[in-house]
Amino acid sequence: MAEKIAKLNMNGKEYDLPILESTLGPDVVKVSELAKDATFTFDPGYNSTASCESKITFIDGSNGILLHRGYPIEQLAEKCEFLEVAHLLLHGELPNKNQKNSFYNDITHHTLVHEQIPRFFSGFRRDAHPMAIMVGVVGALSAFYHTDLDFSSQKNLMLAALRLIAKMPTLAAMTYKYSLGQPFIYPINNLDYAENFLHMMFSLPTEETNVNPVLAKALDKIMILHADHEQNASTSTVRMAGSTGANPFACIAAGIGALWGPAHGGANEACLNMLETIGDEGQIDKYIKKAKDKDDPFRLMGFGHRVYKNYDPRAKIMQKTCHDVLETVGAKDDPLFKLAMKLEKIALEDEYFVDRKLYPNVDFYSGITLRALGVPRNMFTVFFAVARTAGWISQWLEMHNEPTLKLARPRQRYLGATERDVPPIDKR
Ligand code: CMC
Repeated sequence: MAEKIAKLNMNGKEYDLPILESTLGPDVVKVSELAKDATFTFDPGYNSTASCESKITFIDGSNGILLHRGYPIEQLAEKCEFLEVAHLLLHGELPNKNQKNSFYNDITHHTLVHEQIPRFFSGFRRDAHPMAIMVGVVGALSAFYHTDLDFSSQKNLMLAALRLIAKMPTLAAMTYKYSLGQPFIYPINNLDYAENFLHMMFSLPTEETNVNPVLAKALDKIMILHADHEQNASTSTVRMAGSTGANPFACIAAGIGALWGPAHGGANEACLNMLETIGDEGQIDKYIKKAKDKDDPFRLMGFGHRVYKNYDPRAKIMQKTCHDVLETVGAKDDPLFKLAMKLEKIALEDEYFVDRKLYPNVDFYSGITLRALGVPRNMFTVFFAVARTAGWISQWLEMHNEPTLKLARPRQRYLGATERDVPPIDKR
Protein backbone atom coordinates (compact mmCIF):
# COMPACT_ATOMS: atom_id res chain seq x y z
CA MET A 1 0.00 0.00 0.00
CA ALA A 2 1.33 3.44 -0.97
CA GLU A 3 2.47 5.58 1.94
CA LYS A 4 -0.06 8.31 2.74
CA ILE A 5 1.44 11.77 2.65
CA ALA A 6 0.41 15.21 3.94
CA LYS A 7 1.90 18.15 2.09
CA LEU A 8 3.26 21.24 3.80
CA ASN A 9 4.46 24.31 1.93
CA MET A 10 6.64 26.55 4.02
CA ASN A 11 9.25 29.18 3.21
CA GLY A 12 9.20 28.12 -0.45
CA LYS A 13 9.88 24.49 0.38
CA GLU A 14 7.49 21.60 -0.01
CA TYR A 15 7.55 18.85 2.59
CA ASP A 16 6.04 15.37 2.19
CA LEU A 17 4.99 14.44 5.70
CA PRO A 18 4.20 10.73 6.23
CA ILE A 19 0.76 9.93 7.68
CA LEU A 20 1.09 7.07 10.19
CA GLU A 21 -1.88 4.78 10.66
CA SER A 22 -3.32 3.98 14.09
CA THR A 23 -5.27 0.82 14.93
CA LEU A 24 -8.05 3.01 16.40
CA GLY A 25 -8.56 6.75 16.39
CA PRO A 26 -7.01 9.35 14.13
CA ASP A 27 -3.95 8.68 12.00
CA VAL A 28 -1.09 11.04 12.78
CA VAL A 29 1.13 13.26 10.65
CA LYS A 30 4.81 12.69 11.40
CA VAL A 31 6.47 16.08 11.69
CA SER A 32 9.75 15.13 13.37
CA GLU A 33 11.83 15.52 10.20
CA LEU A 34 10.92 19.23 10.06
CA ALA A 35 13.45 19.92 12.80
CA LYS A 36 16.30 19.25 10.35
CA ASP A 37 15.35 22.55 8.67
CA ALA A 38 14.79 24.29 12.01
CA THR A 39 11.06 24.25 11.31
CA PHE A 40 8.85 23.63 14.34
CA THR A 41 5.13 23.08 14.92
CA PHE A 42 3.34 25.10 17.60
CA ASP A 43 0.76 23.33 19.78
CA PRO A 44 0.42 24.75 23.31
CA GLY A 45 -1.13 22.24 25.69
CA TYR A 46 -0.40 19.49 23.10
CA ASN A 47 -3.98 19.69 21.82
CA SER A 48 -3.05 18.18 18.47
CA THR A 49 0.19 16.40 19.30
CA ALA A 50 0.70 12.66 19.74
CA SER A 51 3.82 12.50 21.90
CA CYS A 52 4.40 8.75 21.69
CA GLU A 53 3.20 5.46 20.27
CA SER A 54 1.35 3.34 22.82
CA LYS A 55 -0.58 0.07 22.94
CA ILE A 56 -1.99 0.51 26.44
CA THR A 57 -5.07 2.76 26.51
CA PHE A 58 -7.40 4.15 23.87
CA ILE A 59 -9.93 6.94 24.37
CA ASP A 60 -12.58 8.01 21.89
CA GLY A 61 -13.59 11.26 23.51
CA SER A 62 -16.46 12.04 21.13
CA ASN A 63 -18.22 8.77 21.86
CA GLY A 64 -17.21 8.40 25.53
CA ILE A 65 -15.19 5.20 24.98
CA LEU A 66 -12.27 4.08 27.13
CA LEU A 67 -10.40 0.86 26.37
CA HIS A 68 -7.44 -0.68 28.20
CA ARG A 69 -5.55 -3.04 25.88
CA GLY A 70 -8.82 -3.21 23.89
CA TYR A 71 -11.14 -4.04 26.81
CA PRO A 72 -13.94 -1.53 27.59
CA ILE A 73 -13.70 0.08 31.02
CA GLU A 74 -17.30 -0.98 31.76
CA GLN A 75 -16.38 -4.67 31.42
CA LEU A 76 -13.14 -4.32 33.36
CA ALA A 77 -14.94 -2.54 36.20
CA GLU A 78 -17.63 -5.18 36.31
CA LYS A 79 -15.64 -8.38 35.80
CA CYS A 80 -12.10 -7.76 37.04
CA GLU A 81 -10.14 -6.86 40.14
CA PHE A 82 -7.79 -3.90 40.24
CA LEU A 83 -4.67 -6.08 40.27
CA GLU A 84 -5.90 -7.99 37.22
CA VAL A 85 -6.23 -4.64 35.46
CA ALA A 86 -2.75 -3.67 36.68
CA HIS A 87 -1.45 -6.94 35.17
CA LEU A 88 -3.28 -6.14 31.93
CA LEU A 89 -1.72 -2.68 31.74
CA LEU A 90 1.76 -3.95 32.59
CA HIS A 91 1.87 -7.18 30.58
CA GLY A 92 -0.66 -6.56 27.80
CA GLU A 93 -3.06 -9.37 28.78
CA LEU A 94 -5.39 -10.25 31.63
CA PRO A 95 -3.76 -12.93 33.79
CA ASN A 96 -4.85 -16.56 33.66
CA LYS A 97 -5.25 -18.36 37.00
CA ASN A 98 -1.54 -19.19 37.42
CA GLN A 99 -0.40 -15.78 36.29
CA LYS A 100 -2.92 -14.17 38.63
CA ASN A 101 -1.67 -16.17 41.63
CA SER A 102 1.92 -15.40 40.83
CA PHE A 103 1.28 -11.64 40.22
CA TYR A 104 -0.82 -11.26 43.39
CA ASN A 105 1.82 -13.14 45.34
CA ASP A 106 4.57 -10.85 44.02
CA ILE A 107 2.62 -7.71 44.88
CA THR A 108 1.70 -9.01 48.33
CA HIS A 109 5.35 -9.72 49.12
CA HIS A 110 6.48 -6.23 48.21
CA THR A 111 3.99 -4.23 50.31
CA LEU A 112 6.35 -3.59 53.23
CA VAL A 113 8.55 -0.51 53.12
CA HIS A 114 12.07 -0.35 54.51
CA GLU A 115 12.13 0.35 58.24
CA GLN A 116 14.11 3.57 57.59
CA ILE A 117 11.21 5.03 55.60
CA PRO A 118 9.10 6.00 58.66
CA ARG A 119 11.95 8.31 59.67
CA PHE A 120 11.27 10.45 56.60
CA PHE A 121 7.81 11.15 57.90
CA SER A 122 9.00 12.78 61.10
CA GLY A 123 10.65 15.47 58.95
CA PHE A 124 7.23 16.63 57.74
CA ARG A 125 4.75 18.81 59.60
CA ARG A 126 1.73 16.83 60.81
CA ASP A 127 -0.55 19.18 58.86
CA ALA A 128 1.39 18.82 55.59
CA HIS A 129 -0.74 17.99 52.57
CA PRO A 130 -0.40 14.22 52.04
CA MET A 131 0.39 14.75 48.35
CA ALA A 132 3.42 16.82 49.41
CA ILE A 133 4.58 13.92 51.58
CA MET A 134 3.92 11.43 48.77
CA VAL A 135 6.13 13.37 46.34
CA GLY A 136 8.92 13.17 48.92
CA VAL A 137 8.65 9.59 50.12
CA VAL A 138 8.00 8.00 46.71
CA GLY A 139 11.03 9.85 45.31
CA ALA A 140 12.99 8.67 48.35
CA LEU A 141 12.37 5.03 47.39
CA SER A 142 15.11 5.43 44.76
CA ALA A 143 17.58 5.75 47.62
CA PHE A 144 16.62 2.28 48.85
CA TYR A 145 16.92 0.30 45.62
CA HIS A 146 19.99 1.86 44.02
CA THR A 147 21.56 -1.54 43.36
CA ASP A 148 18.59 -2.51 41.17
CA LEU A 149 18.56 0.61 39.01
CA ASP A 150 20.31 -0.89 35.96
CA PHE A 151 17.35 -0.85 33.61
CA SER A 152 19.05 -2.72 30.79
CA SER A 153 17.72 -5.73 32.76
CA GLN A 154 14.05 -6.68 32.19
CA LYS A 155 14.05 -8.22 35.67
CA ASN A 156 14.93 -4.85 37.22
CA LEU A 157 12.30 -3.03 35.16
CA MET A 158 9.56 -5.38 36.35
CA LEU A 159 10.85 -5.41 39.93
CA ALA A 160 10.60 -1.61 40.07
CA ALA A 161 7.03 -1.80 38.72
CA LEU A 162 5.99 -4.40 41.29
CA ARG A 163 7.58 -2.47 44.13
CA LEU A 164 5.79 0.71 43.20
CA ILE A 165 2.33 -0.84 42.78
CA ALA A 166 2.80 -2.80 46.03
CA LYS A 167 4.16 0.00 48.21
CA MET A 168 1.93 2.89 47.15
CA PRO A 169 -1.01 1.95 49.43
CA THR A 170 1.42 1.42 52.32
CA LEU A 171 2.97 4.86 51.86
CA ALA A 172 -0.40 6.50 51.22
CA ALA A 173 -1.86 5.06 54.44
CA MET A 174 1.26 6.16 56.33
CA THR A 175 0.65 9.79 55.28
CA TYR A 176 -2.82 9.58 56.81
CA LYS A 177 -1.69 7.87 60.00
CA TYR A 178 1.08 10.45 60.35
CA SER A 179 -1.42 13.31 60.12
CA LEU A 180 -3.41 11.74 62.97
CA GLY A 181 -0.37 10.96 65.10
CA GLN A 182 -1.37 7.29 65.08
CA PRO A 183 1.04 4.36 64.66
CA PHE A 184 1.72 3.13 61.15
CA ILE A 185 -0.11 -0.12 60.38
CA TYR A 186 1.69 -3.00 58.67
CA PRO A 187 0.02 -4.72 55.72
CA ILE A 188 -1.42 -8.21 56.25
CA ASN A 189 -0.68 -10.81 53.59
CA ASN A 190 -4.05 -12.55 53.62
CA LEU A 191 -5.94 -9.37 52.77
CA ASP A 192 -6.35 -8.37 49.15
CA TYR A 193 -5.01 -5.10 47.72
CA ALA A 194 -8.04 -2.88 48.47
CA GLU A 195 -8.72 -4.55 51.84
CA ASN A 196 -5.11 -4.01 52.85
CA PHE A 197 -5.28 -0.38 51.83
CA LEU A 198 -8.38 0.19 53.99
CA HIS A 199 -6.81 -1.83 56.81
CA MET A 200 -3.63 0.27 56.79
CA MET A 201 -5.72 3.45 56.65
CA PHE A 202 -8.23 2.70 59.38
CA SER A 203 -7.02 -0.11 61.67
CA LEU A 204 -5.40 0.39 65.03
CA PRO A 205 -2.83 -1.95 66.62
CA THR A 206 -5.09 -2.14 69.67
CA GLU A 207 -8.09 -3.50 67.80
CA GLU A 208 -9.03 -6.39 65.52
CA THR A 209 -8.90 -5.56 61.83
CA ASN A 210 -12.39 -5.01 60.58
CA VAL A 211 -12.54 -4.21 56.87
CA ASN A 212 -15.98 -4.19 55.28
CA PRO A 213 -15.63 -6.41 52.16
CA VAL A 214 -18.38 -4.51 50.31
CA LEU A 215 -16.54 -1.22 50.80
CA ALA A 216 -13.22 -2.84 49.84
CA LYS A 217 -14.85 -4.07 46.62
CA ALA A 218 -16.10 -0.53 45.93
CA LEU A 219 -12.60 0.86 46.50
CA ASP A 220 -11.21 -1.79 44.16
CA LYS A 221 -13.63 -0.59 41.47
CA ILE A 222 -12.72 3.05 42.07
CA MET A 223 -9.07 2.10 41.58
CA ILE A 224 -9.90 0.33 38.29
CA LEU A 225 -11.56 3.54 37.08
CA HIS A 226 -8.39 5.51 37.85
CA ALA A 227 -5.80 2.96 36.73
CA ASP A 228 -4.75 4.57 33.47
CA HIS A 229 -5.89 7.28 31.11
CA GLU A 230 -3.61 7.51 28.12
CA GLN A 231 -1.22 10.51 27.80
CA ASN A 232 -2.72 12.85 30.43
CA ALA A 233 -0.58 15.50 32.17
CA SER A 234 0.82 13.25 34.92
CA THR A 235 1.49 10.29 32.60
CA SER A 236 3.22 12.57 30.13
CA THR A 237 5.26 13.93 33.04
CA VAL A 238 6.28 10.38 34.02
CA ARG A 239 7.26 9.66 30.41
CA MET A 240 9.13 12.93 30.06
CA ALA A 241 11.10 12.35 33.26
CA GLY A 242 11.67 8.71 32.21
CA SER A 243 12.98 9.76 28.80
CA THR A 244 16.08 11.16 30.50
CA GLY A 245 16.85 7.72 31.95
CA ALA A 246 15.75 8.83 35.44
CA ASN A 247 14.80 5.99 37.79
CA PRO A 248 11.11 5.00 38.05
CA PHE A 249 10.70 6.11 41.67
CA ALA A 250 11.81 9.64 40.73
CA CYS A 251 9.58 9.54 37.63
CA ILE A 252 6.49 8.48 39.60
CA ALA A 253 7.24 11.19 42.18
CA ALA A 254 7.21 13.68 39.28
CA GLY A 255 3.87 12.23 38.14
CA ILE A 256 2.43 12.61 41.64
CA GLY A 257 3.41 16.29 41.59
CA ALA A 258 1.65 16.78 38.23
CA LEU A 259 -1.45 14.91 39.37
CA TRP A 260 -1.87 17.17 42.39
CA GLY A 261 -3.16 20.18 40.41
CA PRO A 262 -6.90 20.99 40.51
CA ALA A 263 -7.17 20.78 36.70
CA HIS A 264 -6.09 17.12 36.98
CA GLY A 265 -6.26 14.71 39.95
CA GLY A 266 -6.81 17.48 42.49
CA ALA A 267 -10.26 18.01 40.96
CA ASN A 268 -11.87 15.37 43.22
CA GLU A 269 -10.91 17.34 46.33
CA ALA A 270 -11.81 20.64 44.63
CA CYS A 271 -15.17 19.20 43.55
CA LEU A 272 -16.18 18.25 47.07
CA ASN A 273 -15.11 21.68 48.33
CA MET A 274 -17.22 23.20 45.57
CA LEU A 275 -20.31 21.13 46.44
CA GLU A 276 -20.00 22.17 50.08
CA THR A 277 -19.63 25.81 49.07
CA ILE A 278 -22.73 25.60 46.88
CA GLY A 279 -24.43 24.10 49.92
CA ASP A 280 -27.98 23.60 48.72
CA GLU A 281 -30.02 23.31 45.55
CA GLY A 282 -31.25 26.90 45.82
CA GLN A 283 -27.69 28.11 45.20
CA ILE A 284 -27.07 26.09 42.02
CA ASP A 285 -28.20 28.80 39.59
CA LYS A 286 -25.87 31.33 41.19
CA TYR A 287 -22.88 29.00 40.76
CA ILE A 288 -23.82 27.98 37.21
CA LYS A 289 -23.83 31.71 36.40
CA LYS A 290 -20.41 32.12 38.00
CA ALA A 291 -19.04 29.16 35.99
CA LYS A 292 -20.26 30.78 32.78
CA ASP A 293 -18.90 34.23 33.60
CA LYS A 294 -15.58 34.79 31.79
CA ASP A 295 -14.58 37.41 34.38
CA ASP A 296 -15.02 34.93 37.23
CA PRO A 297 -12.30 32.29 37.74
CA PHE A 298 -14.88 29.85 39.16
CA ARG A 299 -15.27 26.63 37.14
CA LEU A 300 -17.55 23.72 37.75
CA MET A 301 -15.08 21.23 39.20
CA GLY A 302 -15.50 17.65 38.01
CA PHE A 303 -16.92 18.99 34.75
CA GLY A 304 -15.23 19.13 31.34
CA HIS A 305 -12.34 17.20 29.93
CA ARG A 306 -9.64 17.80 27.33
CA VAL A 307 -10.43 14.56 25.53
CA TYR A 308 -14.04 13.64 26.42
CA LYS A 309 -16.56 15.72 24.55
CA ASN A 310 -19.22 13.34 25.78
CA TYR A 311 -20.05 11.73 29.13
CA ASP A 312 -16.84 10.35 30.70
CA PRO A 313 -17.58 6.58 30.86
CA ARG A 314 -15.80 6.43 34.22
CA ALA A 315 -18.19 9.05 35.64
CA LYS A 316 -21.19 6.84 34.83
CA ILE A 317 -19.71 3.88 36.71
CA MET A 318 -18.57 6.18 39.51
CA GLN A 319 -22.07 7.58 39.95
CA LYS A 320 -23.42 4.04 40.36
CA THR A 321 -20.58 3.07 42.73
CA CYS A 322 -21.26 6.22 44.74
CA HIS A 323 -24.90 5.26 45.07
CA ASP A 324 -23.98 1.69 46.18
CA VAL A 325 -21.42 2.89 48.73
CA LEU A 326 -23.83 5.43 50.20
CA GLU A 327 -26.43 2.72 50.56
CA THR A 328 -23.92 0.35 52.24
CA VAL A 329 -22.87 2.97 54.78
CA GLY A 330 -26.49 3.94 55.44
CA ALA A 331 -26.22 7.38 53.84
CA LYS A 332 -28.32 6.98 50.72
CA ASP A 333 -29.92 10.36 51.35
CA ASP A 334 -26.54 12.07 51.45
CA PRO A 335 -27.36 15.73 50.67
CA LEU A 336 -24.13 16.26 48.72
CA PHE A 337 -24.91 13.33 46.40
CA LYS A 338 -28.39 14.74 45.80
CA LEU A 339 -26.90 18.19 45.21
CA ALA A 340 -24.36 16.74 42.76
CA MET A 341 -27.10 14.92 40.80
CA LYS A 342 -29.19 18.09 40.63
CA LEU A 343 -26.18 20.20 39.60
CA GLU A 344 -25.33 17.67 36.88
CA LYS A 345 -28.89 17.72 35.57
CA ILE A 346 -29.07 21.52 35.45
CA ALA A 347 -25.63 21.85 33.80
CA LEU A 348 -26.40 19.20 31.19
CA GLU A 349 -29.49 21.17 30.14
CA ASP A 350 -27.69 24.52 30.05
CA GLU A 351 -26.75 25.87 26.61
CA TYR A 352 -23.26 26.94 27.78
CA PHE A 353 -22.32 23.40 28.85
CA VAL A 354 -24.15 21.76 25.93
CA ASP A 355 -22.40 23.97 23.33
CA ARG A 356 -18.97 23.33 24.83
CA LYS A 357 -19.67 19.62 25.31
CA LEU A 358 -18.90 19.81 29.02
CA TYR A 359 -19.96 16.65 30.87
CA PRO A 360 -19.17 15.27 34.33
CA ASN A 361 -15.76 13.62 34.50
CA VAL A 362 -14.53 10.88 36.86
CA ASP A 363 -13.87 13.38 39.64
CA PHE A 364 -17.45 14.61 39.86
CA TYR A 365 -18.65 11.67 41.98
CA SER A 366 -15.36 10.21 43.24
CA GLY A 367 -15.01 12.69 46.12
CA ILE A 368 -18.47 11.93 47.51
CA THR A 369 -17.75 8.20 47.19
CA LEU A 370 -14.37 8.36 48.92
CA ARG A 371 -15.83 10.54 51.65
CA ALA A 372 -18.49 7.88 52.26
CA LEU A 373 -15.68 5.32 52.56
CA GLY A 374 -14.29 7.44 55.39
CA VAL A 375 -11.40 8.84 53.36
CA PRO A 376 -10.53 12.40 54.40
CA ARG A 377 -10.69 15.03 51.68
CA ASN A 378 -6.98 15.79 51.44
CA MET A 379 -6.37 12.06 50.78
CA PHE A 380 -8.63 11.90 47.69
CA THR A 381 -5.86 12.72 45.23
CA VAL A 382 -3.53 10.33 47.06
CA PHE A 383 -6.02 7.53 46.39
CA PHE A 384 -6.03 8.59 42.73
CA ALA A 385 -2.21 8.43 42.73
CA VAL A 386 -2.19 4.93 44.23
CA ALA A 387 -4.44 3.64 41.44
CA ARG A 388 -2.76 5.62 38.66
CA THR A 389 0.64 4.18 39.60
CA ALA A 390 -0.37 1.02 37.68
CA GLY A 391 -0.84 3.14 34.54
CA TRP A 392 2.18 5.39 35.10
CA ILE A 393 4.57 2.51 35.55
CA SER A 394 3.10 0.57 32.60
CA GLN A 395 3.61 3.60 30.37
CA TRP A 396 7.12 4.04 31.77
CA LEU A 397 7.91 0.37 31.05
CA GLU A 398 6.46 0.57 27.54
CA MET A 399 8.69 3.56 26.86
CA HIS A 400 11.75 1.79 28.25
CA ASN A 401 11.12 -1.20 26.03
CA GLU A 402 11.05 0.88 22.85
CA PRO A 403 14.11 0.15 20.71
CA THR A 404 15.17 3.80 20.82
CA LEU A 405 14.44 5.60 24.03
CA LYS A 406 14.23 9.19 22.82
CA LEU A 407 14.88 12.13 25.12
CA ALA A 408 11.73 14.29 25.31
CA ARG A 409 12.78 17.81 24.44
CA PRO A 410 10.05 20.14 23.12
CA ARG A 411 10.92 23.36 21.29
CA GLN A 412 9.38 26.81 21.70
CA ARG A 413 8.19 29.85 19.87
CA TYR A 414 10.54 32.50 21.20
CA LEU A 415 8.96 35.91 21.83
CA GLY A 416 11.66 37.51 23.98
CA ALA A 417 14.21 40.24 23.30
CA THR A 418 16.45 39.97 20.25
CA GLU A 419 20.22 39.87 20.87
CA ARG A 420 21.55 42.92 22.72
CA ASP A 421 24.65 44.00 24.67
CA VAL A 422 24.86 43.99 28.46
CA PRO A 423 24.86 47.68 29.52
CA PRO A 424 27.03 48.94 32.40
CA ILE A 425 25.15 49.01 35.74
CA ASP A 426 24.56 52.82 35.71
CA LYS A 427 22.81 52.54 32.32
CA ARG A 428 20.31 49.80 33.29
N1 CMC B 1 -16.65 25.00 34.09
C1 CMC B 1 -16.97 26.05 33.30
N2 CMC B 1 -16.48 26.23 32.06
C2 CMC B 1 -15.64 25.31 31.60
C3 CMC B 1 -15.25 24.18 32.36
C4 CMC B 1 -15.80 24.05 33.65
N3 CMC B 1 -15.47 23.01 34.41
N4 CMC B 1 -14.38 23.44 31.65
C5 CMC B 1 -14.22 24.07 30.48
N5 CMC B 1 -14.98 25.20 30.44
C6 CMC B 1 -15.13 26.12 29.30
C7 CMC B 1 -13.92 27.03 29.16
O1 CMC B 1 -14.09 28.23 29.88
C8 CMC B 1 -13.90 27.25 27.67
O2 CMC B 1 -14.91 28.17 27.34
P1 CMC B 1 -14.69 29.18 26.08
O3 CMC B 1 -14.59 28.31 24.87
O4 CMC B 1 -15.89 30.06 26.09
O5 CMC B 1 -13.42 29.93 26.36
C9 CMC B 1 -14.33 25.90 27.10
O6 CMC B 1 -15.15 25.32 28.13
C10 CMC B 1 -13.17 24.96 26.79
O7 CMC B 1 -12.39 24.85 27.96
P2 CMC B 1 -10.79 24.72 27.98
O8 CMC B 1 -10.29 25.21 29.28
O9 CMC B 1 -10.23 25.34 26.73
O10 CMC B 1 -10.67 23.15 27.83
P3 CMC B 1 -9.45 22.28 28.29
O11 CMC B 1 -9.50 21.07 27.47
O12 CMC B 1 -8.19 23.06 28.27
O13 CMC B 1 -9.78 21.99 29.84
C11 CMC B 1 -10.22 20.92 31.87
C12 CMC B 1 -10.07 20.77 30.35
C13 CMC B 1 -10.43 19.56 32.50
C14 CMC B 1 -8.90 21.55 32.44
C15 CMC B 1 -11.41 21.88 32.18
O14 CMC B 1 -12.59 21.34 31.64
C16 CMC B 1 -11.56 22.14 33.68
O15 CMC B 1 -10.88 23.03 34.20
N6 CMC B 1 -12.43 21.37 34.37
C17 CMC B 1 -12.57 21.47 35.81
C18 CMC B 1 -11.45 20.70 36.49
C19 CMC B 1 -11.65 19.20 36.40
O16 CMC B 1 -12.74 18.70 36.64
N7 CMC B 1 -10.55 18.49 36.11
C20 CMC B 1 -10.56 17.02 36.08
C21 CMC B 1 -10.31 16.47 34.72
S1 CMC B 1 -10.69 14.73 34.61
C22 CMC B 1 -9.64 13.92 35.70
C23 CMC B 1 -8.23 13.97 35.27
O17 CMC B 1 -7.92 13.70 34.12
O18 CMC B 1 -7.40 14.19 36.14
